[in-house]
Amino acid sequence: MTLLHVMAEDDPTTVLLHTEDPDEIVQALAPLNVRFERWEAEEPLPDDASSEDVLKAYREEVDRLCVQGDFRLVDVVRLKPDDSDPEWPQKAHAARTKFLEEHTHDEDEVRFFVEGSGCFYLHVGSSVYAVVCEAGDLLWVPQGTAHWFDMGTRPEFTAIRFFQEEDGWIGNFLPNSIASRFPTLDELRADHLAHNS
Ligand SMILES: [Fe+2]
Repeated sequence: MTLLHVMAEDDPTTVLLHTEDPDEIVQALAPLNVRFERWEAEEPLPDDASSEDVLKAYREEVDRLCVQGDFRLVDVVRLKPDDSDPEWPQKAHAARTKFLEEHTHDEDEVRFFVEGSGCFYLHVGSSVYAVVCEAGDLLWVPQGTAHWFDMGTRPEFTAIRFFQEEDGWIGNFLPNSIASRFPTLDELRADHLAHNS
């Protein structure tokens, strides 16, 4: 599910906008200087696709974005549940909590979802924009935008990341607990299922 769920900063139960329409999402995020795009793969990816295969499948779009954003580094990050690994729950928890608190970056945060999903929470003005991205979604968040990211309790996604600098992913964490007051990705998914079944 691709979803934009906008809430009041001081009351997560006040929903200012809820849409699954990609065009509406583009329009709602444009005033924040946040770009949202949908990309099509040039060819379907096999289940065991390597990072090279992933980048090849989106070569044209990746090259276009690198020029537009002056991105010098592009990589592929992949997280998949591995129930055969007894340490997977701890690994998943560690990965999830890393960016679950509000932070900013010194450069733009740009992610394209090849598989799976994750939720970016953009805290702009007096609103929090929860953007659930799924396969085919690109989100481009300008530097300095306060945000956090929830990959859910069972992280499963493959994403292409774009960087201007090698340490572009480092977060400047803000001293607050705002993230804990807002619905998690798991909760947004459950809500979505409840309303669409
Ligand atoms: Fe971030």
